Amino acid sequence: MKALVLSGGKGTRLRPITHTSAKQLVPIANKPILFYGLEAIAEAGIREVGIIVGETEKEIRAAVGTGSKWGLRVTYIPQEAPLGLAHAVKIAEPFIKKDDFVMYLGDNLLKEGLGGLVKEFNQKKPNSLILLMKVKHPEQFGVAELLDGKVKKLEEKPKNPKSDLALVGVYLFDSSIFKAVNAIKPSKRGELEITDAIQYLIDKKMKVLPQTVSGWWKDTGRLDDLLEANRLVLSAAKGRNEGSVDKNSKIEGSVIIEKGAKIVNSTVRGPAIIGENAEIVNSYVGPYTSIYFNSKLKNSEIEHSIVLENSVIEDIKRIEGSLIGQNATVKQSPTKPSAYRIMIGDSSRVEIP
Ligand code: DAU
Repeated sequence: MKALVLSGGKGTRLRPITHTSAKQLVPIANKPILFYGLEAIAEAGIREVGIIVGETEKEIRAAVGTGSKWGLRVTYIPQEAPLGLAHAVKIAEPFIKKDDFVMYLGDNLLKEGLGGLVKEFNQKKPNSLILLMKVKHPEQFGVAELLDGKVKKLEEKPKNPKSDLALVGVYLFDSSIFKAVNAIKPSKRGELEITDAIQYLIDKKMKVLPQTVSGWWKDTGRLDDLLEANRLVLSAAKGRNEGSVDKNSKIEGSVIIEKGAKIVNSTVRGPAIIGENAEIVNSYVGPYTSIYFNSKLKNSEIEHSIVLENSVIEDIKRIEGSLIGQNATVKQSPTKPSAYRIMIGDSSRVEIP
């Protein structure tokens, strides 16, 4: 079995963060989302991985390299434009050849590993195994309609969903999917949809097995989902201290303090993670917060948020439910008049009470 990881596409829903970086590399609990998928693939015993890359190819290559740190052999497959998930499968055929494969969407996080799914696929030998999960807003996903436990119909982001079962971004296929992706036509949004390709298998009476996800699953394409994924991962993490905490500071609950991080005269209430060489001074870091490497928090309070690398937050009363990009500065202005002075990127969002 091989794996195909989709890490191209455009992160329109996460702009402005994705103006400058790949959405699959946004860190959840200080680890790029994509790495969770690669770890799960390696743990399932898969070694050959194809990664679909687009505009952010350089960054993805720099982060993942040869894949050897997970014991994987990575082949990069450039996609000329984000023409759809089924298009990605189409261009991966020379890499996959006749093998079975797991397709993993690079912005998805799945709590349960892949081991059980691979075993199920090998035992039952379907043409495809798809994962489903009940969601509140099925219209934002591919939606499955079941009849007597079998998949009857799949629809991509339907206005009037026929069920609340969303397609999770992890799929297992045998090589019959290549016939399907070559037969289907682009959808109304101009993409070759994987839902249409799987529907083709169903229409041709091939075996498509549905399986419900038992743990949690997150598509991290939106800010709220990112924060929720961060909350879920941090909730399960064990605290450790590889940095320094002065005697005026308090660490409560499970807090990961990475190498070189400094906590001075501050309270950190877990679950939280403070990245390498980050500094927390005269501040409060509340639950479900991830501070990435080299960032600094001074005289400020923050909770339920993600701060990317090399950023500075100074003299800010309280930040909640926020995502702060790389190399960003958020600070109180020392000069009068006391007005908001902001330089924010394109497609940014600032909420001020
Ligand atoms: O997250 C699950 C959902 O993923 C499913 O329920 C939907 O049926 C499926 O179409 C997909 O929907 P999204 O709209 O969330 O897909 P998105 O465009 O965000 O792409 C998913 C990943 O695949 C993302 O990491 C980018 C990558 N991608 C996407 C496209 C369209 C590519 O590498 N190439 C592409 O052409």
